[in-house]
Amino acid sequence: MKTFVIKGNLCFSRSMDELVLMEQSYIVVEDGRVAGTFRTLPERYAQLPVLDYGDRLILPGMTDLHVHAPQFAFRGLGMDMELLEWLNTYTFPEESKYKELDYADRAYGSFVGHLLRSTTTRAAIFATIHVPATELLMQKLDDAGLSCYVGKVNMNRNSPVYLREISTNQALRDTERWLCETKERYTHVKPILTPRFIPSCTDDLMYGLARLQAKYDVPVQSHLSENYSEIAWIRELCPRSKHYGDAYEQFGLFGGGYPCIMAHCVHSNEDEQALMKKNGVFIAHSPESNMNLASGVAPVNKFLDNGLRVGLATDVAGGSHESMLRAMTHAIQASKLRWRLYDQAVKPLSFERAFYLATMGGGAFFGNVGSFLDGYEFDAVVLDDASLDHPQALSVRARLERAAYLADDRNLTAKFVAGQKILG
Ligand code: GUN
Ligand code: FE
Repeated sequence: MKTFVIKGNLCFSRSMDELVLMEQSYIVVEDGRVAGTFRTLPERYAQLPVLDYGDRLILPGMTDLHVHAPQFAFRGLGMDMELLEWLNTYTFPEESKYKELDYADRAYGSFVGHLLRSTTTRAAIFATIHVPATELLMQKLDDAGLSCYVGKVNMNRNSPVYLREISTNQALRDTERWLCETKERYTHVKPILTPRFIPSCTDDLMYGLARLQAKYDVPVQSHLSENYSEIAWIRELCPRSKHYGDAYEQFGLFGGGYPCIMAHCVHSNEDEQALMKKNGVFIAHSPESNMNLASGVAPVNKFLDNGLRVGLATDVAGGSHESMLRAMTHAIQASKLRWRLYDQAVKPLSFERAFYLATMGGGAFFGNVGSFLDGYEFDAVVLDDASLDHPQALSVRARLERAAYLADDRNLTAKFVAGQKILG
């Protein structure tokens, strides 16, 4: 059913600073898209079936703009190190297990199950270097009805031999075959080119991936300016680049003519920020990961004020949890500490902006996604916050804020992607 009416307490962004709250109101969904939102249902829609969610909250589905599916298995573990040591100690050994399809089947089954029961409807996901396991993940996400980009990861240096492409040519051949196999195979899932980050990829691999990007017109995702040691390493690896973003740009892997996501951007300088703006690069802000790995706090309010494109991300397993509600409140909390302790020039993030980042900000990577404005794809989650009991009367705005801070994905009653009900 892709044409219907849904009723409840609607909460959605009109812009980054405007949160629309419509109590006991209606959304008319036609062919999977929002045809209109109404406080009283117009007569012309009276014949359509109505899904009445009573006093529950109806929010746009959320976009997790950066998450590592193979790291879900060790979420909440190993938070005692910074990025580069963390990768070598915890991440690479775990990711090597996805060579075995049996393990991948169990682990990815668990990941997709959790994602399905979260407020996330769309995600940009890193898999591992292994093609069969990556395709298994894509199939599971597609079967669940989640709309995702998934990347077979490329890495051919600075990792143990057990988690490294055999050769550059082999990596490019595998990646091209995988792109051809998966470009049209699924209904909801698409491939995205995924160099892990520059320290993991030789120059010839990066140039080869840029050729594949141009040949198949696919989007790109990677990591950028997350950690001080990483950035110092880039200066050694790419001495002719002006900054880390410029190094991607020189390889032809920094957006511009095509969609591109860069995770973190905690320490991006002014030039790097300007280049991201020029190229329309999406920043995947990952506040919990940036705290856990002691990377720092990105000036996300500054990015927004300056017109950069930003979404929110869990970055599991840098982040410990798949909940985008938690990511919202972590973003606010981190921005407050950054402001108090470090830089009064960038104000803390408002609740409105955090909500925007989780919905419309990241949703924009998928088109008109993440709001209930007319014409948007109807991605929605229905939250029953009755278990978060309170003696006093609360407005819908207050209930929404509490639902985020007390984030409990068990409150999810139903979930829709592009008008299709996939849960509840
Ligand atoms: N940089 C390169 N690989 C990774 C990863 O797996 N997680 C994070 N947070 N940063 C990275
Ligand atoms: Fe990451």
